[in-house]
Amino acid sequence: MEVVIVPDAKAGGELIAEAVAQLLRRKPDALLGVATGSTPLPVYEALTAKVRAGELDASAARIAQLDEYVGLPAGHPESYRATVLREVVEPLGLGPGSFMGPDGSAEDVQAACAAYDAALASAGGVDLQLLGIGTDGHIGFNEPCSSLASRTRIKTLTEQTIKDNARFFDGDVGQVPRHVITQGIGTILEARHLVLLATGEGKADAVAATVEGPVAAVVPASALQRHPHATVVVDEAAASKLK
Ligand code: F6R
Repeated sequence: MEVVIVPDAKAGGELIAEAVAQLLRRKPDALLGVATGSTPLPVYEALTAKVRAGELDASAARIAQLDEYVGLPAGHPESYRATVLREVVEPLGLGPGSFMGPDGSAEDVQAACAAYDAALASAGGVDLQLLGIGTDGHIGFNEPCSSLASRTRIKTLTEQTIKDNARFFDGDVGQVPRHVITQGIGTILEARHLVLLATGEGKADAVAATVEGPVAAVVPASALQRHPHATVVVDEAAASKLK
């Protein structure tokens, strides 16, 4: 595992956007796994700036969601499908056919999970998976004590994550869906390159446990230690509890 400490979130975004740009220059139709939430926004902004400046042609890129809420009405602005369309697909000028995600409104959720794992595999696997990290060490929505070998499946969000995500729902915890479909930790580990970005002091404990603690299901992100090509990009605040 490689750990890169950058001064701030903007620098982290630029560093990762450059890694994505290099990948797309080498493999224009690379499959990029994207996370939602606040952390990856500087990456998407820096990538969009490269496309708009004519430094990068991302038009053949393919995008894969990491997770999705279960039970939000189709088209809800906080569904992860709508979020990825708004923050990644549209700014990069990609068509709606260029991205895939789990179906959070499927009647048969289990079948939808298996179908998503199969779709990722038949798309050739994720080339670069961008990850954020929860204050409790989750990746995707693999909450603490998730199996390190897990596949895409339905998970219940912890009270902590519901509280953390309420800011996207007018601060109202009652509006935050309780369930999500998330790529499993085993699924995430199949990506060729994992890039985890963590910014801000609130992530410092989770980062220290991920990077310097034992590989353990109580800290799902610690599974990155087992991946042959994992990069953890942290700003100084998120790095503040590293030894
Ligand atoms: C979102 C996701 C989550 C977030 C994590 C951090 O698709 O997979 O693991 O990355 O909850 O969220 P932020 O970045 O909002 O602090």
